[in-house]
Amino acid sequence: SDQPRERWGSRAGFLLAAIGSAVGLGNIWRFPAEAYRNGGGAFMLPYLIALVTAGLPLLIMEYTIGRRYRGSAPASYLRLGRPAQFIGWWQVAICFVIATYYALILAWALRYVGFSVGQSWGDDAEGFLFGTFLQVGDTPGELGGYVGGVFWPLLAIWVTVLITLALGIRHGIETAAKIFIPLLIVFFVVLVVRALTLDGADLGLDALFTPDWDALTDGDVWVAAYGQIFFSLSVGFGIMITYASYLGRRSDLSGSALVAGFANSSFEILAGIGVFATLGFLAASSGGAVFETEGGLGLAFVAFPTIISEMPWGGFFGVLFFLSLVVAGWTSLISIMQVIVAAVQDRLRVNRVVSVAMVGTLVALVSLLLYPTNGGLYLLDAADRFINRYGIALASLISVIVVAWLLRKLPVLQRDADATSAVKLGRWWKLCLGIITPIVLGLMLIDSFAQEIDENYGDYPSSFLAWAGWGVAGGALLIGIVLSLIPWRRGAEVPPDADD
Ligand code: PHE
Ligand code: NA
Repeated sequence: SDQPRERWGSRAGFLLAAIGSAVGLGNIWRFPAEAYRNGGGAFMLPYLIALVTAGLPLLIMEYTIGRRYRGSAPASYLRLGRPAQFIGWWQVAICFVIATYYALILAWALRYVGFSVGQSWGDDAEGFLFGTFLQVGDTPGELGGYVGGVFWPLLAIWVTVLITLALGIRHGIETAAKIFIPLLIVFFVVLVVRALTLDGADLGLDALFTPDWDALTDGDVWVAAYGQIFFSLSVGFGIMITYASYLGRRSDLSGSALVAGFANSSFEILAGIGVFATLGFLAASSGGAVFETEGGLGLAFVAFPTIISEMPWGGFFGVLFFLSLVVAGWTSLISIMQVIVAAVQDRLRVNRVVSVAMVGTLVALVSLLLYPTNGGLYLLDAADRFINRYGIALASLISVIVVAWLLRKLPVLQRDADATSAVKLGRWWKLCLGIITPIVLGLMLIDSFAQEIDENYGDYPSSFLAWAGWGVAGGALLIGIVLSLIPWRRGAEVPPDADD
């Protein structure tokens, strides 16, 4: 179809959608756990350095590529330079993998909104989660049977996401962000105020913020900080390229990136405060240490339910907490899906609704067939770990190398961004992207690769990791390369005419 490219209705609409993508499960459950494990208050230093040296520069790069080349990730990278095209398709494949399981976590959270009302987990939140609700099997890699209690909420997530995508950039994604982000702010404020007024809140805050300065000399802490920033800002997925391709030619770029980055970090730190104040209440009331959070799953679906049962107004608090997870993650899922939808639209020249129908059927089918099963949790765990490291992080590393060194496009991109942005990019931008980011990402990957060789992630059997981990991450790269070998129609290398 040769209709003009869709457009955001306003700058605020674009910003809210970008914030909606950034603010997700990573803010609510990943950040507090990472900060706590990596030096508490001292983690803020590497975190801020990672934000300034890698997160924001990459965010600005993706915004600029998207607006300049006005295409989905593969189309934009094609226009940037032919050899870069496979990065775009690789990112599309990564988004495909992530979408299938990100939706699953939303489905759990959605179900827990209902469970919170009557505190269905009784006095054994852990047994309820893994046994009664998820019905997790014993053998990783065996899908086993279907779990109806997960299937239905998952279907509901997919139906609402696909309808929103079919409504388009302005009427679907932008409208959803305009409703959901303010809603999320209200939920958050209520939750955090409630948490801070609980007995023992100060214990939790002490646990989170007491700085362990020795952590700063630990390489792992820096790796964790950069990892958190990449995941949390949603850079390296092609999402921001896609969203920025619907911007007008004269829109501000670096200012928007700063606003989005600031908003994302604010949500994150606020979530850390709320979560730890609540954990402090549990510590105070049970007289023990409850800060042994093992990542997000245990935090959200075991620790929180336990706390909800013990506090006054727990049901209400629980509904708000799980609704926040749903709302925050839902707008992120939308953004992951739009990467794939936009790529198919550009490549096959079909309209939005056809593309949503094609992509939606495929992604939702895979998601609904594999994950609401006895083996779904293991699959999610392995796929998530490997696609994060050998998908997102590796694709980001390769994209900065290709853009900065192979194609030497940073000066052009910088001029483009500076021409319309309130905040001018100084020399630091090229320095961060060309030197600091590739070095840090390279070290991160070598480090995590060594860990992989050292011991099997999660103690899973190698045969399982071979397909659910390496297979999934390698498959995404392979699909990216294969798709990039199919030639585009003539003229696709040229961005569509500017019509503003
Ligand atoms: N940035 C999101 C978060 O913090 C995560 C995300 C992952 C968003 C993948 C989009 C795509 O949770
Ligand atoms: Na985030």
